[in-house]
Amino acid sequence: MSRSGKVTVVGSGFYGSTTALRLAEYDIFETVVLTDILEGKAEGLALDMNQSRSIEGFETKVVGATTTADGAGYEASANSDVVVITAGLPRKPGMSRMDLIGVNAGIVRGVAENIAKHSPKAVIIVVSNPLDEMTALTQIATGFPHHQVMGQAGMLDTARFTNYVAEKLAVPVSAVKTLTLGSHGDTMVPVPSRCTVNGQPLTSLLAASDIDELVERTRNGGAEIVALLKTGSAYYAPSAAAARMAKAVIEDSGAIMPVCAWVEGQYGISGVYLGVEAKIGRTGIKEVVETALTHSEVAALKVAAEAVRSKQADVKDL
Ligand code: 2OP
Repeated sequence: MSRSGKVTVVGSGFYGSTTALRLAEYDIFETVVLTDILEGKAEGLALDMNQSRSIEGFETKVVGATTTADGAGYEASANSDVVVITAGLPRKPGMSRMDLIGVNAGIVRGVAENIAKHSPKAVIIVVSNPLDEMTALTQIATGFPHHQVMGQAGMLDTARFTNYVAEKLAVPVSAVKTLTLGSHGDTMVPVPSRCTVNGQPLTSLLAASDIDELVERTRNGGAEIVALLKTGSAYYAPSAAAARMAKAVIEDSGAIMPVCAWVEGQYGISGVYLGVEAKIGRTGIKEVVETALTHSEVAALKVAAEAVRSKQADVKDL
């Protein structure tokens, strides 16, 4: 099997370390670099992951590196093809993702500047919250072209929606197709018109009130887990989503995924990072794919765009 490329995961919390392990276990990268500001944490986790290689049967080498705010340690990430930024604080119960904007903006800006210095060609996948704003900030701080910077949210929200539909109808998740667009927050736009079960429209299988209930649970999917965990936020499904995006980049797969991407004209919306479907490849976002939505879904997408637009405009001053 041929392995190629280097992916760096910034932040060795549960989200970052689980993403790094998934990426290593794909066995498609030459190197996975994991970093953290806590001295020794990334190195220790990398050593542990490497020791699992003979059991799990992968050869990708995991490298851990301690980094500092002034940029020390980032040499380990130099010339990465893909970078996943997980740095920042997670929510506590009762907090909205937006409550993290002040503290996480400082952290993400510093990380983005250091990544840009060492890996000017990297495609960046941002997962730090509030997601849409941190993605916009990363693009500003790196100065990278918009297509080189994207955020992970739609894959996760869609996976949550799929899980709830499968449980409700007692069918395998593989039989269910769903879609969520919009923001990774209050203006998330689950798209029932694009949901099917074994090829049949969801709207023909569930009453509107049942669909509304699942849509609402999807919108609150992250908060439900934060409330149960009490410390920290979700990471198994989020890391699966981020890792699949990184895989699509390095394999230049052209897979169409719901991601946070820069929108220019699609659905009549321009100049904002928003959850839309996009074709993912070696250069990042190859193309935002505009698909058929109902009038009310397009209207909801426009509301989401305006909600994140004002916050994204503020973020450059944080
Ligand atoms: C979530 O929704 C972490 O934002 C992420 O769980």
